[in-house]
Amino acid sequence: MRSIPLLSLLLLQVTAQDDSESSSTTTGATSTPTSSSTPSPSSSTLPTVNQAYTALLNDSLWFYEAQRSGNLPANNRVPWRHSSALQDGSDNNVNLTGGYYDAGDYLKFTLPMAYSMSIVSWGAIEWFQGYQAAQQDGYLRDMVKWGMDWLIQAHPQPNVFYVQVGNGDIDNNYWGPDTNIPTPRPSYMINNTSPGTDVAAVGAAAFASASYLFRNRLNDSNYADTLTSHAISLYNFAETASPQQPYTTSIPAIAEFYQTNTIQNQLVWGALWLYRATGNQTYLTKASKYFDQFNLSSVDITPMDWSDQSGGVFVLGSMLDNSTQKYRAAAERYLDTLTQGQGPCSFTGGGLLWCGQSSASNSLIPAQDTALLALLYSGLNSDKGSGYTKFALGQIDYLLGNNPMLTPYVVGVHMNSPANPHHAGASGGTDINNINTSPPQELNVLYGAIVGGPDQSDNFYDVRNDWQQSEVALDYNAPFQGLVAYQLVTNASDPPYTTITQPRPAIKKPFPKWAIAIIVILLVLLLIALALLWWKRKRIIEWRRRRKQNW
Ligand SMILES: *[C@@H]1O[C@H](CO)[C@@H](O)[C@H](O)[C@H]1NC(C)=O
Ligand SMILES: *[C@@H]1O[C@H](CO)[C@@H](O)[C@H](O)[C@H]1NC(C)=O
Ligand SMILES: *[C@@H]1O[C@H](CO)[C@@H](O)[C@H](O)[C@H]1NC(C)=O
Ligand SMILES: *[C@@H]1O[C@H](CO)[C@@H](O)[C@H](O)[C@H]1NC(C)=O
Ligand SMILES: *[C@@H]1O[C@H](CO)[C@@H](O)[C@H](O)[C@H]1NC(C)=O
Ligand SMILES: *[C@@H]1O[C@H](CO)[C@@H](O)[C@H](O)[C@H]1NC(C)=O
Ligand SMILES: *[C@@H]1O[C@H](CO)[C@@H](O)[C@H](O)[C@H]1NC(C)=O
Ligand SMILES: *[C@@H]1O[C@H](CO)[C@@H](O)[C@H](O)[C@H]1NC(C)=O
Repeated sequence: MRSIPLLSLLLLQVTAQDDSESSSTTTGATSTPTSSSTPSPSSSTLPTVNQAYTALLNDSLWFYEAQRSGNLPANNRVPWRHSSALQDGSDNNVNLTGGYYDAGDYLKFTLPMAYSMSIVSWGAIEWFQGYQAAQQDGYLRDMVKWGMDWLIQAHPQPNVFYVQVGNGDIDNNYWGPDTNIPTPRPSYMINNTSPGTDVAAVGAAAFASASYLFRNRLNDSNYADTLTSHAISLYNFAETASPQQPYTTSIPAIAEFYQTNTIQNQLVWGALWLYRATGNQTYLTKASKYFDQFNLSSVDITPMDWSDQSGGVFVLGSMLDNSTQKYRAAAERYLDTLTQGQGPCSFTGGGLLWCGQSSASNSLIPAQDTALLALLYSGLNSDKGSGYTKFALGQIDYLLGNNPMLTPYVVGVHMNSPANPHHAGASGGTDINNINTSPPQELNVLYGAIVGGPDQSDNFYDVRNDWQQSEVALDYNAPFQGLVAYQLVTNASDPPYTTITQPRPAIKKPFPKWAIAIIVILLVLLLIALALLWWKRKRIIEWRRRRKQNW
């Protein structure tokens, strides 16, 4: 049982700064070993960086470490995690151990994992100095490499890509530690006869963006070359395998988890990242051709996520292609709509971007992804930039405590942080029928995890089995990394939670519906009674007169 007193946390975070682990590199993974190319500068040469944002970046990377599957290396920092799922892929004679568990369960999904890799890489490419200032670049490298090593293993042949490990029905009936994960854990692939354009293109984007990061920021061109070759091959698979179709057409079992229903924005997203990673003009031309062919400039505006990278296409295209205005026009149409809470979105009373169903299932995710795109674009147009930046900072502040719940929605950083993330391993529970109460307090603090978030009334209930509000996932923290790195680069002032000393306020319960129903029924009965009296008034008067006469 642990509680998190505010003061001791702050002290911990400040004193942890000169932790020599921050230049660690060993990942214990298969491919090209990384050398320590980012030694920590001595503290005397460091500019002053915000300590709270430094701790947030460290915590978020620590969360990804807590999601690791496979053989854990000796430098694993998460004491309650063990090497696990060491037979993954054996059903198809491939080695699919490693990678990251998707959420609070033990399933591995390629689509959201790859999407998360590309979003973390993008933020790190743009604001790498933030990672350096916080001395987190070594952890960043390990984090991205852990995911990319697995995606390499998941791509054993040019036209074979594994897209899921573990069976949803089996896994979702288990709640417990990583030492007892149920089997079998089947692996699912796309291939020439069962293609999947969306996941192949998103995989290619992950390889290409990570390649750019490793080549141009982390100084590891060997590993970058490996990643680029997978990106080219996977993109070729996406483009040439026939028919071009969403991968859930080939593997319907995934549809209940990660279904995109589109291939168009993904093909452009992959091509743009390939252009950035290789400099090969062919990919920029492909991106432009598909963009026109699929009419991406007039698609319905929706927040970016694992299922749809249209917004990412607009912003990345604006960065990469100066020969046309079409990406910029689309990006501004997109950001003008979303950052002003128009189109499918509005704002909650507390100021959180709220976009219909996608917010209902995890409200902080569309807000974060839109904030990330707004910051990425803001440098490209000085007129629009300040408005986009203002929007993004407002969402970051909300996320970090400036909200009606006085809650930073990051686990383990404040006494008001979510205490019940939906995470089997962290909770310490083993009873799937009593997830909320067994144990009453989570055994392990899942530092750095972003939870789904509050409801449309800004209320947050902090209940473990409320997956909309309390779920954690790889793609929830992916934009967060970029937002925090941005704050570190701009030397932002402290996040709001550092000055919050009040506990999270109780939620004002709305008047229950059944009580309203009873009141309405009573009123109706009363009206009927009055109407009856009125209707029978002559008879009543008559009756009273007769009674008097009888006296
Ligand atoms: C499978 O891959 C993992 C992670 O890359 C590695 O640690 C392990 O040694 C591999 N297992 C075999 C049998 O090759
Ligand atoms: C990468 O190499 C360049 C040139 O040698 C150097 O300036 C830069 O600091 C290095 N970056 C890292 C992260 O090591
Ligand atoms: C960051 O801001 C703090 C407080 O405003 C200031 O003391 C420090 O010098 C700034 N650091 C950099 C690198 O600008
Ligand atoms: C990073 O976060 C973990 C978990 O909160 C903590 O144990 C560690 O000391 C932190 N390290 C740094 C350098 O802040
Ligand atoms: C191709 O993928 C499908 C769908 O996952 C699978 O059923 C089939 O066995 C695979 N084909 C080969 C040759 O592995
Ligand atoms: C650029 O990419 C295309 C498509 O993959 C390829 O055919 C061509 O050889 C590449 N060009 C260079 C210079 O690598
Ligand atoms: C794109 O728009 C053009 C003109 O509005 C239309 O003719 C074409 O069918 C559209 N293409 C797609 C793929 O929707
Ligand atoms: C595009 O133009 C902007 C200035 O408007 C410049 O900063 C940027 O480097 C250019 N990008 C490319 C890929 O040429």
